[in-house]
Amino acid sequence: MRQYIQQLLNGCIEGFHRDGVLPADFVPSFTVENTKDKKNGDFATNLAMILCRRMGRPPRAVAEMIVAALPASDRIAKVEIAGPGFINFFMNADHVAAAVYAMSQDPRLGVPLTAAPETVVVDYSSPNVAKEMAVHHIRSTVIGDSVVRVLEFLGHQVIRANHVGDWGTQFGMLIAYLEKMENEGADSLAVADLEAFYRSAKVLYDEDQEFAARARSYVVRLQGGDEYCRSMWKKLVQMTMDLDQQIYDRLGVSLKMEHVMGESLYNPMLPEIAGDLERRGLAVTDQGALVVFLEEFKGKDGNPMGVIIRKSDGGYLYTTTDIACAKYRVEHFHASRILYFIDSRQHDHLIQAWTIARKAGYVPENVSLEHESFGMMLGKDGRPFKTRSGGTVKLSELLDEAESRVASLLEGRGSELTGEERQEVIHAVAMGAVKYADLSKNRTTDYIFDWDSMLSFEGNTAPYLQYAYTRIRSVFRKTDGTPGPVKITCPQEEQLALKLLRFCEVVEQVAQKGMPHLLCTYLYELSGLFMSFYESCPVNRSGIEEKIRSSRLSLCAATAGVVKTGLSLLGISVLEKM
Ligand code: ARG
Repeated sequence: MRQYIQQLLNGCIEGFHRDGVLPADFVPSFTVENTKDKKNGDFATNLAMILCRRMGRPPRAVAEMIVAALPASDRIAKVEIAGPGFINFFMNADHVAAAVYAMSQDPRLGVPLTAAPETVVVDYSSPNVAKEMAVHHIRSTVIGDSVVRVLEFLGHQVIRANHVGDWGTQFGMLIAYLEKMENEGADSLAVADLEAFYRSAKVLYDEDQEFAARARSYVVRLQGGDEYCRSMWKKLVQMTMDLDQQIYDRLGVSLKMEHVMGESLYNPMLPEIAGDLERRGLAVTDQGALVVFLEEFKGKDGNPMGVIIRKSDGGYLYTTTDIACAKYRVEHFHASRILYFIDSRQHDHLIQAWTIARKAGYVPENVSLEHESFGMMLGKDGRPFKTRSGGTVKLSELLDEAESRVASLLEGRGSELTGEERQEVIHAVAMGAVKYADLSKNRTTDYIFDWDSMLSFEGNTAPYLQYAYTRIRSVFRKTDGTPGPVKITCPQEEQLALKLLRFCEVVEQVAQKGMPHLLCTYLYELSGLFMSFYESCPVNRSGIEEKIRSSRLSLCAATAGVVKTGLSLLGISVLEKM
């Protein structure tokens, strides 16, 4: 609807350009808003106010010109000029009704496949080997996976890239420690506690000189491609990814082993890139290291910032890898968009890598590199999220706690459920609540992890939406009517219908901005409108005219479809009963 009005207005602007009343090079950016007060119609635009100066006329006069230039449309009942020069559009209720009915029967709920499919690489999750997934990995995993689903739903080709931290000098120590454990007969399951494994390895490294020397020799051998060290390294990667995979599966995250494209993948490219940057004069030798000085970034001393490409000992860094990785994604996948779901603290790092990749021509202008950054997860006290004793919270334990909290919340409810159904409800609600709590906040800010608010059946939470869905579905279990053409008979129906028709626009926005919270807010508001509709517009009450019942059942069907599809795009499942 909104896009339709935007199109009509763009037509007017083109006409003004042709007629010479508006300078041809002036492309206005204007808004078409959903009005709050329905007295002002369904949509309003500020276009006249944006054009008036350039057209040298008062805004109301420009508004009149726009209205006169609009083509006749059976979708619009009435257009009015209001206040200083707003133009209000009243949609034709019959058209709204027909559109919503069509939507209720469309498995894609009115969301078309994109006309311009792109290849999009999405870099997300990206945990580190031999480390427990940390809080910033959870955020990246959950938000990234939702955006992946949305892009795929729109018909884009998506490449999931799990940029696992699987390389670095710590691997000498980790290999040496794994070797020691294997010699002592411990099976690899002893590594199930990755934090403890890493810590013990580090303690030994700091205390035992012989061990430390062996560790250092292993780094050199690993980098030289030594078979034994490589196989030990592979074991470490595999053990970590097996544990991480359990978490992905439990959370319903679509990442699989085949999506792992760790830092090590880019190793073979690094010497070549260093040489190339040097040949082109982008990188220079500075105190033995190879450095790119970026004029556009000044360090504290006011001098251009130096980004190290190769250390004086010959080693490469995280940034060098990200330069290679951006190049690879362009050359190998022909990506036109590359999205990085990474913690906001790595913003400078990314910008440096990208600036160099662009200067070297590895990433052409028409490929967009986007940092979908996010803030931290904080505890209720506003401090970084930690256990009571100050340690890192293990994700698996967090998910266990979510399930046990949901189990006690549901105690006494839904008694008609079988044991198996109950388990399914507990799992879906618990995982949904944890994910939704993260997804529903604007990702650019920090967010407070709070059990009580995320598990509440009221407010903008997953349990609320899952419950709303079961209520809609129960309408169908109780009815003997069948859905049919929609007829708008009251304001609640109209508001619900107009909101339903916005689904498409919201999904497209999530894809564009990488912001799933827009979809959460939309689903929450939609459910609210559904509840008011349901209270004032009975569906199954006896005495309701058959045609009205059918119409309302279609509104219910469209709402159920949007809530279910919307939640699945967030990676959250719905239930028939709870
Ligand atoms: N492994 C990194 C970390 O734990 C995140 C990697 C993000 N992706 C990238 N291309 N740098 O912080």
